[in-house]
Amino acid sequence: MTKSLLIIANWKMYLSYQQTITLCTQQKEDLISCVATTPHKLIVCPILPAINELTTLISHSQINFGAQTCSPHKLGAYTGEIDAQSLSELGCTYCIIGHSERRHYHHETNDIVAQQAMRLIEQGITPIFCVGETLDEKKLNQTLQVVQHQVEPMFQAIKQAQKISSRLTIAYEPIWAIGSNQIPEIKDIETAVAAIKSLGQEILPEIDISCLYGGSVDENSIKTLKSLKYLDGFLIGRASLDFQRLQKIVSWFKQPGHGE
Ligand code: 13P
Repeated sequence: MTKSLLIIANWKMYLSYQQTITLCTQQKEDLISCVATTPHKLIVCPILPAINELTTLISHSQINFGAQTCSPHKLGAYTGEIDAQSLSELGCTYCIIGHSERRHYHHETNDIVAQQAMRLIEQGITPIFCVGETLDEKKLNQTLQVVQHQVEPMFQAIKQAQKISSRLTIAYEPIWAIGSNQIPEIKDIETAVAAIKSLGQEILPEIDISCLYGGSVDENSIKTLKSLKYLDGFLIGRASLDFQRLQKIVSWFKQPGHGE
């Protein structure tokens, strides 16, 4: 039987509110058909103001909605922030945290991302925690140290707070592979994923950790990436905004080991 994968569409800030609604209104059937005949789950992460309208516009049991970040704080005097409780009330069941673009432009540290994870878990939202090395770190063979250093504060925070209700989803997304049309060697992805899972099992043996790969996933790279073992899904940027390309990616997993 085909394994059920998580396909996360990170639409970043590529489209405005009106452009997002227009795209989804005009191509709703294409979006739904990406997953309608597969066992896979699609999580659409648009800009936040569009979520409310999209949850009404696109209703299908295999399509869920996610946010792209959340505040590390509980409700309070934090101007400009968006809290996890509101995300839940808006219908988000997933939320991307720790994306390298947030770490770079908004200086989100591993500790801040750990706090974001806590807020989400409290609200029953599954965090999609992004980790990955820079090109320089890769050249210095530091990938495993970097990703373990990124995930450890979150594992420890969850352990200390004994917040174990949620599944954890970690996306291994090398920074140099994002937007570059380059992907790592399959064995390098498998080694990074194995290191993340093994640290998770050591610190949080009772939690089931899913691992995704992100970075230049498209209808061409998926032909190589589909041979990955022990992977639970993909985090897709640019190619997820073209629903026919997205459908081609998903269709590679219609049958075990076979694409179309
Ligand atoms: P691309 O798929 O456009 O490389 O983006 C990857 C990404 O950053 C998803 O979070």
